[in-house]
Formats: sequence, C-alpha cells, structure tokens
Amino acid sequence: MASKGTATVAAAVPEVALRSGNARPMPAVGMGTAAFPLVPEATKNAVLAAIEVGYRHFDTAYMYGTEKPLGDAVAEAVRRGLVASRQELFVTSKLWCTQCHPDLVLPALRQTLQNLQIEYLDLYLIHWPICIKPVPPSFPAKKEDAMPFDFEGVWLAMEECHRLGLAKAIGVSNFTTKHLDKVLAAATIPPAVNQVELNPVWQQRTLRGYCAEKGIHVAAYSPLGGQNWDGTGNAVLESDVLAGIAKARGKTIAQVSLRWIYEQGVTSIAKSYNMERLKQNLEIFDWELTDEDRLKISQIPQKKVVKGTDLFSREGEFTSVDAADLNVEE
Ligand SMILES: NC(=O)c1ccc[n+]([C@@H]2O[C@H](COP(=O)([O-])OP(=O)(O)OC[C@H]3O[C@@H](n4cnc5c(N)ncnc54)[C@H](OP(=O)(O)O)[C@@H]3O)[C@@H](O)[C@H]2O)c1
Repeated sequence: MASKGTATVAAAVPEVALRSGNARPMPAVGMGTAAFPLVPEATKNAVLAAIEVGYRHFDTAYMYGTEKPLGDAVAEAVRRGLVASRQELFVTSKLWCTQCHPDLVLPALRQTLQNLQIEYLDLYLIHWPICIKPVPPSFPAKKEDAMPFDFEGVWLAMEECHRLGLAKAIGVSNFTTKHLDKVLAAATIPPAVNQVELNPVWQQRTLRGYCAEKGIHVAAYSPLGGQNWDGTGNAVLESDVLAGIAKARGKTIAQVSLRWIYEQGVTSIAKSYNMERLKQNLEIFDWELTDEDRLKISQIPQKKVVKGTDLFSREGEFTSVDAADLNVEE
C-alpha cells in the first residue's frame, strides 16, 4: 500500500476476503463516518487524517449525508498522492429505507456514486430490513409510512447493481437470521456481508454462528459502544470489566474492544474524527487477549442500543414493521 510516511501502519491492517468474485478484500478495521450533527468539512478532514494514518476502509450511507465529504476527501487524497488511486480504498455505502423498492435501488446507487464522485462501490448494503414509502427521508420516519419489505425484489435489484459492476460486493445491515433466511431463499448471489451492532456488550453469538455457516462475513458497527445513541451513555467505554483488562494489558478500553472483535473474525467499523484516536484504533494487531480476558468478556451482561423502532416517531401505530423482528435477544 503506497502512502506517504504511513506505509507501515497501512501495511499492518489485515484484510478479509469476501465471498464475491471481484471485490477488493476488506481491511479488518474501517472508519465510520456517521456523525451528528453533520459538519461536512469535519468529515472530510477526518477522512484525510484517517488516510494519512493508514485507513483504507470507509463506511458511509446515503442517510448519513457523509457521501459527498467522503468523496471530496478521496479525490483530495488522490490529488495529494496520499493514495495512488481510489482502487486502494474500500468504500461501503447503504441503501436507505425509502429507497428499498425494487425500481429505486439502481437509481439510488447511481445517486450515491455521484455523491461520492466514484465509479463503483466496494460494498453496497441494504441499511435496514425496513421499507418506507418513497417520501423524502426524514428522521424519525412516520410510522404510517412503513410498508411491507419486498425481500426478493429488492435483493434481485441489488444483484443487478453487482452485475453492472457498480457494486463489487453486495450485502445487508441490521438483518436478523429471519431476514437473512428470506434473502437467501431468493438470492442467486448471496449477501457477502451483514453489518450489525456488535461489541463486547452486544456480542451477537447466534447471528455470528448463522453467518459463519452461510459464508456471510460479519462487520461490527458501534464497536466502541456507539455515540450515546439511546441517551444512556456508553456501556463499552464505561465497562469495568474492559477497563480492568485494558489496565492489565497496557491498552485502552477501545483497543480491548476492537481486539476482541478482531479475534472473533469480525471487521470493525469504528468512528473517530480525532487523529490520535484514529491511530490508536488501528494498533490492535500485534498483541492478543488472554484466555482469561476472553472468559471475562464472554460473561459481560448483554445490552442492545440501536433499535430499529427508534427510526420511527413515537406517535402512531406500526403498520408493516414488526418491532419484535428487529431486536433479537441474545
Ligand atoms: N448500519 C447501521 O445501521 C449503522 C448504525 C450505526 C453506525 N454505523 C456505522 O458504524 C460507524 C461506527 O459506529 P458508531 O459511530 O455508532 O460508534 P463507535 O465507532 O462505536 O464509537 C464512536 C465514538 O467513540 C469515540 N471514540 C472513537 N475512538 C475512540 C477511542 N480510541 N477512545 C475513546 N473514544 C473513542 C468517538 O468519538 P471521537 O470521534 O471524538 O473520537 C465516538 O464518539 C458509524 O460511524 C457508521 O459508519 C452503522
């Protein structure tokens, strides 16, 4: 990997081959770009800093509003010679719920590529197993705008994106085993990746077992416990168990969490807009947790933070989204 002054860090990030013929292998730690409130210039600068310290894997979504600043940063990184070309990078984006209609998938991807100013995505994901009427995206959405999800139609449209070479790999996000069953029943190209909330406080053992059996790679969002999405703080960074392990290993809690995820064979998508923390989050590949550490982590009480039902306003009745389908217990 060519990059000025940072080749050693970049070269040290292992990569995972995806079950998708021509996809570039996925670097085992990626940078998340979701940040609220959105400040495009901050996103662009953070991505450039990340490229400088060795990140080659970036996660965005139509809904985050970060496609454009990520694309601006990629273009600038190529101009500045931080990377030789866009091909050195692994870029993921996601189809929003209002775009989960068979005839809207390809136009949505084309819009995403235009925002990013690139020719193809390395990975395109269905953001949620939730379909919302094709209204302008709003957050939270109105419950009465929920519609039944056409798993077969939407997935076949994702496959078309792949065949056209616009998405080197295709996958899903926030899908439970039940949703994956529906996609696999319709798929001629099975999903390469399922990106889900995963960290020592929400370990997703059942889902990981299922995905391993089906050859679906798991990627972890909120690997550091997230950005206080439910207003109750951060159960990962505030964990006494993880703090104890971090102290004993001479590492930070964030590094212990990311190392544990890596040891599970899962890719982390970690958000930081701070250069020191970005660097720290890559320094997890030349040391190991002990069996005792792993045992302690396996006993941490489990808590899910990101709930699909939070995408909808509190008023009104669910029409076509079954809340129980979205929040699976361990
Ligand atoms: N598919 C989905 O539905 C979905 C949902 C949520 C997120 N995601 C993706 O996953 C990415 C990551 O998840 P996330 O944003 O929820 O949270 P996260 O990566 O678990 O945590 C990010 C928080 O931790 C802080 N942080 C980062 N490195 C740190 C370190 N070494 N020490 C202490 N604090 C540190 C960050 O602040 P600073 O920036 O100040 O460092 C930020 O507040 C998102 O950005 C997005 O790309 C996907």
